[in-house]
Amino acid sequence: NEGASDAKNLKVKLVLLGDSGVGKSCIVLRFVRGQFDPTSKVTVGASFLSQTIALQDSSTVKFEIWDTAGQERYAALAPLYYRGAAVAVIVYDITSPESFTKAQYWVKELQKHGSPDIIMALVGNKADLQERREVPAQDGIEYAEKNGMFFIETSAKTADNINQLFEEIAKRLP
Ligand code: GTP
Ligand code: MG
Repeated sequence: NEGASDAKNLKVKLVLLGDSGVGKSCIVLRFVRGQFDPTSKVTVGASFLSQTIALQDSSTVKFEIWDTAGQERYAALAPLYYRGAAVAVIVYDITSPESFTKAQYWVKELQKHGSPDIIMALVGNKADLQERREVPAQDGIEYAEKNGMFFIETSAKTADNINQLFEEIAKRLP
C-alpha cells in the first residue's frame, strides 16, 4: 500500500468554451469515446458528458463536462455553465484568427465572472491542419502565459494531445 496513501477521488466540473466550429464537441467525443465525427453537428444549448481518468498514484478524477454551444445566439447561456466550474477549457481553431480573438473574449469574461480560483486551459485545436495554420503557436503560448493559463495544441481528428490535455488539467487540481 506504500505510495497509495495520497490517492483520492476527485469530481471536477469542467466547461468548454469557444467559437462555433472550433471542435469543442469533437474534443469531448475523442476524450470520452475515442471517436471522431467529421460531420459533427453544432451544439444546441449545451451537452453534458462525464469521464473518469486514473492518475499514476491511483487517484481518480471524474470530469463532469459541460460542452457549450459556440453560436452567438447561445452566448447568454454561458454563465449557467461556467458558474461554479473548477476548470475552463477555452478552445480556438489554429486555422481561424477570429476564433483566437473569441477565445480571448472568453478568457476576459471568466476573469471577470468566473470563480477566482478557476483553472484555465487555452487549447489550439485542429493542429492536424498545419498547412492552413493562421495562428502561430507562439501567439497562443504568449497569451496563455500572460493570463496564467496553460496552453496546448490538440487534434480531435488524430487524437493528438487530447488525453494529455485532461491529464495536465488533473495535475493542476488542488
Ligand atoms: P459548436 O457546437 O457550434 O460550438 O461547435 P464545436 O466547437 O462543438 O465544433 P465541432 O466539434 O462540432 O466541430 C466542428 C467541425 O470541425 C466538424 O466538422 C469537425 O469534424 C471539425 N473538427 C473538429 N476537430 C477537428 C480537428 O481536430 N481537426 C480537423 N481537421 N477537423 C476538426
Ligand atoms: Mg459543439
